[in-house]
Amino acid sequence: MTISILFGTETGNAEMLAEDIAAALEDDHETRIANLQDTGAEDLRAADLSIIVCSSYGDGELPASAQPFADLLRAEQPDLAGVQFAIFGLGDTEYAETFGHGSMKLAELLTERGATPVGERLVHDAAGGDLPEDIAVPWATAILAGRATA
Ligand SMILES: Cc1cc2nc3c(=O)[nH]c(=O)nc-3n(C[C@H](O)[C@H](O)[C@H](O)COP(=O)(O)O)c2cc1C
Repeated sequence: MTISILFGTETGNAEMLAEDIAAALEDDHETRIANLQDTGAEDLRAADLSIIVCSSYGDGELPASAQPFADLLRAEQPDLAGVQFAIFGLGDTEYAETFGHGSMKLAELLTERGATPVGERLVHDAAGGDLPEDIAVPWATAILAGRATA
């Protein structure tokens, strides 16, 4: 399967996590990592599945590197029917009212354009005790296992 692992980040955590997910999947799949700021609709269409890792910034906003991608979706309104994506958020419950809102907003934009969410959106809490890769890698492998048997 061809899997794009896309990250939206402000300070690099989502990029590091994308690399961890890619390392866990690359033995069994063709993986490619890209920053969302370098991603367009055709990149989503080229993959069997896009795994997106996205943090939250400001007041529950998208991080800087996801903003050009969101602007593109809003401005060009591409038809993303047939695109499948799974999204993992990075957040912090210290921001209780906007916990995980960056990944939530990005998921909404993609589904509005016709893309299909696969699996459940999980959000890592930087205020908790878990490492993001300890949650995100099993999450990604479970999603792929589910697709293989679907
Ligand atoms: C200024 C600032 C604002 C933040 N705002 C939010 C927020 O509204 N909601 C949330 O869940 N996390 C928020 N966070 C937490 C980040 O999403 C979290 O630290 C994440 O790991 C950053 O990942 P990145 O380096 O890939 O951007 C904020 C962090 C900072 C420093």
